[in-house]
Amino acid sequence: MLKHETIEKNIGLLIVLTILVVSIGGLVQIVPLFFQTSMTQPVAGLTPYTPLQLAGRDIYIREGCVGCHSQMVRPFRAETERYGHYSVAGEYVYDRPFLWGSKRTGPDLQRVGGRYSDAWHYAHLMNPRDVVPESNMPAYPWLDRPLKDAHIQQKMRTLNWVGTGYTEQQIADAPAELEGKTELDALVAYLQVLGTHAPKN
Ligand code: HEC
Repeated sequence: MLKHETIEKNIGLLIVLTILVVSIGGLVQIVPLFFQTSMTQPVAGLTPYTPLQLAGRDIYIREGCVGCHSQMVRPFRAETERYGHYSVAGEYVYDRPFLWGSKRTGPDLQRVGGRYSDAWHYAHLMNPRDVVPESNMPAYPWLDRPLKDAHIQQKMRTLNWVGTGYTEQQIADAPAELEGKTELDALVAYLQVLGTHAPKN
């Protein structure tokens, strides 16, 4: 029988047993999440990003929008009254990597899809002050250039590898869908889909 005193006086044993106990605690919290459908299944109506939205998402990442904008509505009244229904796990099933962010210099964007017209977004990204005079968001005028995403098919295949589920047809059609588009078109397409499948309040 292992006496408490033996454990307390033997630092190596104490460390090993502490790690064991903490690991069990961690596993008990984390493992069930892999089996809960509310964690792993997409919310109703959610589909993988279209090639244009996917390209726009990559521009969002490249430009560092995540440094000022979160994509995560927390379950507090002040948030749900401002943005809408709080975020649920099933909204992020196709977000690889997720862009939850941790800094809000600007507002949360998880419910921004459909809130403004496309024209508003174009104007706002070219120069935020044109539509929001007091804004301190940077302008992104260079986004008004042709979209070059030579790797869109490889990206879709890679996402399939982790389970996104694009069909061969979608992958084959992807380059044509991006043809003639600008980076702005892609980014706005991405912004406009954010949160459109959110649960309703
Ligand atoms: C330096 C911080 C900063 C960065 C970087 C930034 N933003 Fe913003 N953003 C803001 C602020 C502040 C506002 C609120 C004022 C406004 O609407 O312009 C805002 C507002 C917005 C809005 C309107 C949200 C709403 O609900 O009214 C959108 C959409 C947006 N930003 C998209 C982007 C995108 C896309 C990028 C990257 C290309 C980006 N932002 C980068 C600070 C930032």
